[in-house]
Amino acid sequence: MSRILTGIQASGKPHLGNLLGAIKPAIKLSENKSNESLFFIADLHALTTVKDAELIKSHTQAVAAAWLAFGFDTDKNVFYRQSRIPEVTELAWYLNCFTPIPMLQNAHSYKDKADKLSDVNAGLFTYPVLMASDILMYDANFVPVGKDQQQHLEMTRDIARSFNHHYNEEVFVIPEVKIDEAVMTVPGTDGQKMSKSYGNTIDIFLPEKKLRKVVLGIKTNSTPLEEPKNPDTCNVFSLYKLLGSTTQITEMRANYEGGNYGYGHAKQALFELIMDQYKNERALFDGFMNDPTALESRLQEGEAKAREIGHSVLNRVRKVVGFTS
Ligand code: ADP
Ligand code: TRP
Repeated sequence: MSRILTGIQASGKPHLGNLLGAIKPAIKLSENKSNESLFFIADLHALTTVKDAELIKSHTQAVAAAWLAFGFDTDKNVFYRQSRIPEVTELAWYLNCFTPIPMLQNAHSYKDKADKLSDVNAGLFTYPVLMASDILMYDANFVPVGKDQQQHLEMTRDIARSFNHHYNEEVFVIPEVKIDEAVMTVPGTDGQKMSKSYGNTIDIFLPEKKLRKVVLGIKTNSTPLEEPKNPDTCNVFSLYKLLGSTTQITEMRANYEGGNYGYGHAKQALFELIMDQYKNERALFDGFMNDPTALESRLQEGEAKAREIGHSVLNRVRKVVGFTS
């Protein structure tokens, strides 16, 4: 049996990048009968950037509803909020003591955030150590994430190896990253990586009118309607390519190259594709958002299972570091 684990920060409503880069590939892996999956909402990580309690709560609810809307089977698997098994921060402390400062200083994600954010706190800096703790506390074998998280996974592996090496024991399972090559990095409405922190997301769960406005707002160049356009340098086409069928993509490419097809037409087609493809998920998402009690009970069931796994790993660690016998 392989254990699959991944988390999504509760730092905003989940967007198309999260869905295609993390949620969908992870759910696909979880459908394999020989896998056990632990999927969680990284609310402790969200606190590095979101300090409003009500916002964290509502994002947590939205991320949970998205997992369920996309069909995560919580009976067979483990579904939980990171903060409800707070011992993960105890393990993070042990791991901190095995993490060289230059490793953290080299993290792309930290450097990127330190350049962009006004609140550059120590939590942002030690973020990868808490993430390593998330993974190592549950003996995860595979971690499906988007390409941007690859370096964090390499750090997790390095920290785990150096801990095991120091105690000359296989205390931690060394996890492997799983990146869906077809998706890699989903572009945002401005062409950069789609990210909650860049304000360039497409939230497929928005009410129809608002969603249309977001899609129509995708940045394009100013090639006039009559002229042929290059699909391979266009954000709208990049997104269309991730969602459409082969026939739809071929047709769209021909439209671009043929001229007399404006970006407005392409955006409308992308909007319709999103509405059509995610019709069921949109309805399920609204259902879960309107029933917080049901959501809460699913999470609490998962948290009991997560606690059991986490505690057994942590006991192993406490023993080797010399805090229990
Ligand atoms: P964000 O960057 O919006 O804050 P998170 O850091 O919470 O997103 O990411 C949650 C998961 O979604 C991670 O596995 C991450 O790699 C994936 N992900 C986020 N943005 C994208 C994207 N634009 N393309 C592909 N995967 C993404
Ligand atoms: N850092 C991840 C992200 O921003 C979220 C996350 C936290 C995570 N802990 C994790 C992902 C453990 C995978 C495994 O996307």
